[in-house]
Amino acid sequence: MFEHLKDLPADKIIALMAEYRADPRDNKVDLGVGVYKDASGNTPVMRAVKKAEKQLWEAETTKTYTALAGDPAFGRALSGLVLGDAVEEDLLALAAQPGGTGAIHQALELIQMATPEATVWLSAPTWPNHPSIIRHLGMKMTEYRYFDNETRAVDFAGMMEDLQKVKAGDVVLLHGACHNPTGANLTLPQWDEVATLLETKAAVPLIDIAYQGFGDGLEADAAGTRLVAARLPETLIAASCSKNFGLYRERTGLLMAVAPNAKSKALTQATLAHLNRQNFSFPPDHGARLVQMILDDPELRADWAAELEEVRTGMLGLRTRLADALRARTGSDRFGFIAEHRGMFSRLGATPEQVAYMRDKHAIYMVGDSRMNIAGLNENTIDLLADAIVDAGV
Ligand code: LMR
Repeated sequence: MFEHLKDLPADKIIALMAEYRADPRDNKVDLGVGVYKDASGNTPVMRAVKKAEKQLWEAETTKTYTALAGDPAFGRALSGLVLGDAVEEDLLALAAQPGGTGAIHQALELIQMATPEATVWLSAPTWPNHPSIIRHLGMKMTEYRYFDNETRAVDFAGMMEDLQKVKAGDVVLLHGACHNPTGANLTLPQWDEVATLLETKAAVPLIDIAYQGFGDGLEADAAGTRLVAARLPETLIAASCSKNFGLYRERTGLLMAVAPNAKSKALTQATLAHLNRQNFSFPPDHGARLVQMILDDPELRADWAAELEEVRTGMLGLRTRLADALRARTGSDRFGFIAEHRGMFSRLGATPEQVAYMRDKHAIYMVGDSRMNIAGLNENTIDLLADAIVDAGV
């Protein structure tokens, strides 16, 4: 049987992780996978997570099953963080998922069950696992323009022109905040225009929000998602706690489905529970429980939000310092976009050859499309990176 299996293309981000780990050079710099690192290169467990884990260890008396859609208290807490009061509770179907990727996968399966002929529209570029999952599920997909390679900003006119071709029932995948891989984001007035267009076209937004709190702050980063969810009759939202709670390996995520009425919500909720049952039965609970404990406890929540804010402002500082270092070396402002971008990533705009050169000569690892993880930098490596960028002739 196994001889019939075919070689699959390696996931570029995960392959790069392995290459970096295998590199023996002491001066290597990891700007690959989207994982936050502090100034000493560690990915710490957040303070509030540690405290919640201790409390949980003391208080938890059973590991018996929760519910197919996960503990409702987790759904309420995380949907509150993402959506605020944008959507009434009786219109919101919720199902805990193994991470943001699990939520995206489950959203796509739900779409496939409801409208198998729908085309999924993806930003060009997008997180490579989006098209990979869609291909795996055998769904139709196409792209809309998103990033202007010259200005390194959103090509909003191109995006709106392409989205004019969306058909009723098609799904448009949007990044809620901190666009991955470019770092270029929609403004709130642009979100408003996109919402109006999708409304006119009777299309369904699928919002991937994996970096809330990493861009302009917890509230600002959710503003576009809230606007769409409040306006459109149907919206799917996949939220991840991997980055903003640092729970990567715990696989903690939530799928939210905004329904047009209570009857539709009930049907959607039952379908989500069914999908969980088919795919993995009960979703992982440990990370979800920690998130719920943190969000529902004012003290833990304040500590978590403060630490997240330190991370966010630290990354903004790194952005400014890198843009300054490049300004000093090139005498131009052409890398000013690095300070304008938001979130963990910026797409530098280097060629694959230049990316390979920086890896081979300077031991700097970024994804082949020149996506850099800003959180992989620190005070000592900014100059190394700036030198490498200039040396590679970017
Ligand atoms: C990334 O884009 O690097 C992260 O979202 C991690 C991943 O799973 O790819």
